[in-house]
Amino acid sequence: MANGQKDRILVVDDNKLILKLVQDKLGAAGFEVFTAESAEQASAILPSVKPDLIVLDVMMPGMDGYEFCRRLKSAPETSPIPVIMLTARGDISEKVRGFEAGADDYIVKPFDPTELALRIRALLTRVRSARGLAPAPAPAGHIFSVFSLRGGSGKTSLAVNLALALVQLWSAEVALVDLALEADHDAMMLDLRPKYTWANLAEKEQAEIDEDVVMGFMTKHATGIHLLAAPPTPISAGTITPKLVGTVLPILRSRFEFVVIDMPSCFAETNLVAFDLSDIIILLVTPELAGLKAARTALDIFDSLGYRKERLSIVLNWTFPKRGLPQRNIEDALRLPIDLVIPYDPAPFVDAINSGIPLLQANPSSRIAFELQKYAYQLSVEYMQYANVPASEVLSRVQAAFGH
Ligand SMILES: Nc1ncnc2c1ncn2[C@@H]1O[C@H](COP(=O)(O)OP(=O)(O)O)[C@@H](O)[C@H]1O
Ligand SMILES: [Mg+2]
Repeated sequence: MANGQKDRILVVDDNKLILKLVQDKLGAAGFEVFTAESAEQASAILPSVKPDLIVLDVMMPGMDGYEFCRRLKSAPETSPIPVIMLTARGDISEKVRGFEAGADDYIVKPFDPTELALRIRALLTRVRSARGLAPAPAPAGHIFSVFSLRGGSGKTSLAVNLALALVQLWSAEVALVDLALEADHDAMMLDLRPKYTWANLAEKEQAEIDEDVVMGFMTKHATGIHLLAAPPTPISAGTITPKLVGTVLPILRSRFEFVVIDMPSCFAETNLVAFDLSDIIILLVTPELAGLKAARTALDIFDSLGYRKERLSIVLNWTFPKRGLPQRNIEDALRLPIDLVIPYDPAPFVDAINSGIPLLQANPSSRIAFELQKYAYQLSVEYMQYANVPASEVLSRVQAAFGH
């Protein structure tokens, strides 16, 4: 709440799958989530949970959502808690019943969990300003990780330019995290010589690591990006534990609006921690069989980890000039649409590496920069649409392209 703690959301639904889905999404959106599978169970935990808001399914065995809502709204200690009803049908009589029971808002199933997160935030703000309380803190930041099981598929190029696009679009606070711990390429791409890296964090006691410590070990680039660099030598890569990654990433997420992670081409345990914390995993695919197979393998693993398709974004990168597989065949094989195609264009990519000036900084109005900016916009707009963002040339250009 106002003192910096997370808002506590109690979700009541008899469908375990929905509970899991909503829990993941709301958790990622920065809420503390509690669940109950029935109205009875919710009543039992209510005094200890003390939720800031309740999301309530209508159709449940035992007491239904309307009845439970009525009870909540008639007891003085629970009546101020805002309630969002999950109604099965969209017809007006359902809506009326919900409001008669005292619900503050409703959302029709099947619903988009992102919309639910936005509605919760809006309702909490509305309720608080009506009560004259401070609005909820800004949502925690969002993590995008850039991955491929194939080296040289353009992960570092994309991660660096995505971070930059987010700065250009939203003037956002962006962290770039080099988790390709044995390569150290992000610093090179930005022409930075970091004084400190992940290796210095690894020397700290876990309990000492807080925001100040992490910020002290990051390197600021002229564009505003903050880099958490990979160690200078691969030897120290082994000192960076999954636990450390699991401590540092949430700190970064609470400090930055966006955290972009450049991943190595493997399923190291440190990566699994990062994937778990990522809002979006961007999977790069190159248009040849080996690239396609690597992408398919990665998708199978994400599937076995229970990651939903909505968390994945596929980018096709033409890292070579020859005729590659048609886009449609790649989409069929991956059973996912391609969100961005990066054309083969060696000059700006190689120049960027050689000069240490990222493509989007060197030539922000080139065609390829525009494609990357549009993609960054699509990835981030849902998180930023209610933010008070200063107008920028890049943002206006991209919004015009989407007719916004
Ligand atoms: N679309 C592209 N066209 C031409 N060259 C590219 C393209 N994308 C990446 N490259 C080049 O491919 C090489 C590997 O890219 P990099 O971003 O380092 O990949 P990774 O991090 O996956 O190993 C670099 O030399 C980069 O300049
Ligand atoms: Mg790389």
